[in-house]
Amino acid sequence: MTLKEATERVVQLSTAIEAHNRHYYVENKPVISDFEYDLLMQELAGIERLFPQLVVATSPTQRVGSDSLREFAQVAHKYAMLSLNNTYSIDEIREFDSRVRKALSDEPEYVCELKFDGTAIGLTYVNGQLHQAVTRGDGERGDEVTANVRTIGSIPQQLPPGDWPAAFEIRGEIFMPFPAFERLNSARAAAGEPLFANPRNAAAGSLKLLDSRTVAGRGLECFLYYILGDSLPFDTHFDSLQKAAGWGFRVSEPAVRCRTVDDIVAFIDHWAEARKTLPYATDGAVIKVNAFAQQRQLGMTAKSPRWATAFKFKAEQATTELLSVDFQVGRTGAITPVANLMPVLLAGTTVKRASLHNADQIALLDIRLHDTVVVEKGGEIIPKVVGIDRSRRDADSPPFRYISHCPECGTPLVRDEGEAKHYCPNDAHCPPQILGKILHFAGRRAMNINAGEATIELLYRKGLVRDVADLYRLRKDDLRHFSHWGEKSAENLINSIAASRQTPFPKVLYALGIRFVGETVAKRLADALPSIDALAQAGRDALLAIDEIGERIAQSIIHYFADAGNRALIDRLRAAGVRMEGDARAPRSGALAGMTFVITGTLSRPRDDFKALIEQHGGRVASDISTKTTHLLAGQNAGSKLARAQKAGVAVVSEAELITRMK
Ligand code: IVH
Repeated sequence: MTLKEATERVVQLSTAIEAHNRHYYVENKPVISDFEYDLLMQELAGIERLFPQLVVATSPTQRVGSDSLREFAQVAHKYAMLSLNNTYSIDEIREFDSRVRKALSDEPEYVCELKFDGTAIGLTYVNGQLHQAVTRGDGERGDEVTANVRTIGSIPQQLPPGDWPAAFEIRGEIFMPFPAFERLNSARAAAGEPLFANPRNAAAGSLKLLDSRTVAGRGLECFLYYILGDSLPFDTHFDSLQKAAGWGFRVSEPAVRCRTVDDIVAFIDHWAEARKTLPYATDGAVIKVNAFAQQRQLGMTAKSPRWATAFKFKAEQATTELLSVDFQVGRTGAITPVANLMPVLLAGTTVKRASLHNADQIALLDIRLHDTVVVEKGGEIIPKVVGIDRSRRDADSPPFRYISHCPECGTPLVRDEGEAKHYCPNDAHCPPQILGKILHFAGRRAMNINAGEATIELLYRKGLVRDVADLYRLRKDDLRHFSHWGEKSAENLINSIAASRQTPFPKVLYALGIRFVGETVAKRLADALPSIDALAQAGRDALLAIDEIGERIAQSIIHYFADAGNRALIDRLRAAGVRMEGDARAPRSGALAGMTFVITGTLSRPRDDFKALIEQHGGRVASDISTKTTHLLAGQNAGSKLARAQKAGVAVVSEAELITRMK
């Protein structure tokens, strides 16, 4: 390519990409797939690498969040990312102080900070430029998420002139402020997508997104609290924070120097209350010895430094009125009582609903309608009712009466001995149970069908999919009704359903949603019995002889196969090509004989599944492109392998093409 050709192509590509950005962000109507978009970006970046003189500040490649082509590389931390000792007890903070004093020859000074409840990040700067951002991972190695971190406005990409060392690492916490978290979850609820349980999970999840353009819209922020390097221009932690602030970093705030343990306790007491007004989640205070020399004297244990500790705040509680109780019917028919509450602010978000667990819990707390209840936020999405304020109850309030019939289908509820929950036994006809079964079947850990909950619910409500076997009858034409669906998404869904036929038997067994047959039990059953027919015929004794299978599971399996409807469903799934027996290693066809595949990019299911599939049809799979490679199976966001395959003249096939070839 000559410079002139390159210049022309760069202009063409930049114009096209900017137009697609507009379609995507402004008009909300993407014209091309992410994959095609990535190809354009890749081509542009490739030319710019060859002709660096053509890179202009306004190039799409220079835009924040434009680099969407990554699988995360694992990177070793130069300095291990340790955690901190935790305590909920002020006494233990006093013990920490005594230990520190005993080990040091001089009086210590401490710095108290808040403990931000997000996800830890290590940022490496080389010559003042952000070089790499790595997550904690296992403490030794983490994921390299630099492109995503570049979308966080407060993290400098380039430091202004200053006395920063040529190379250093600065660590901090990436978090999602409450307003951004509420916005994200409302949007996900509207789209029928699963909600994030808390801002911490939302921050960590966002950081691991493959598409930085999405990350850029998530409203992530970052506080930095720890600098590491070989020759740092300061001797105390406090000075390091001040310096870093001067270099343009947003540093941990507040940071208060304390001389005595009483000062520390005053900091904790103050912030245990004051934190409730902050727009982001904090879960404690961190106390650090200030002087580096003293930190070195104290040293580290294998897991955490001896010069720092964390005090954890108690979970936040709020009191409010119990307005009414709803009863939700889950996938397995389990009934969960949910409290509707007078809205109340709790840990930064408004709480309107809380879990009441089950009938026993309600009886134990003697919860009654219009009681003043205490709610607490744990790690779950829905907070729980943990107590009541009996003093504020009307003298004549009647005890709460638990329901006796299913609120969805009217069937009398049952409660098995030893079970905390009531169940609706009408599993074949109770609507949430049917929908739940389909959702479970399609789920990532089951058949891994690439469709959101909202999509499946729509298919169910429109009557297109009434049970799991109906999925395999769907045709692209059926999806015409969904006018908002692009050709591409319809095709993706159909392809993904087709590919799910190859799901290994243990997963199919799990996907069926037989009560008490979770993933592990499904594996055990599949290990012991070669096929669904063998399982259906196994009597109680045969089942009990299998590792980890007890009476409860055996009964549930027998009950499942005694049902003619279930047996018919299995026959229909089998007829649709779903695998109903274990992995017979014999090849299923020779359709791919003599071909050697390399797999790249993001596919609709794990690579190992495709590897198994290719091998079953007589093909081979290699890890990298060589002269022997005949085909590249390319998923979304395929990177350098795609480019190399094209150069080497290797045939590039999509998932859909692969599957057609094997038919
Ligand atoms: S200092 C070696 N300061 O809490 C000490 N950590 O359980 C380095 N965290 O790994 C950590 N706020 O992810 C420090 N102001 C703060 C913090 C903080 C939150 C997190 C961080 C750390 C974990 C310890």
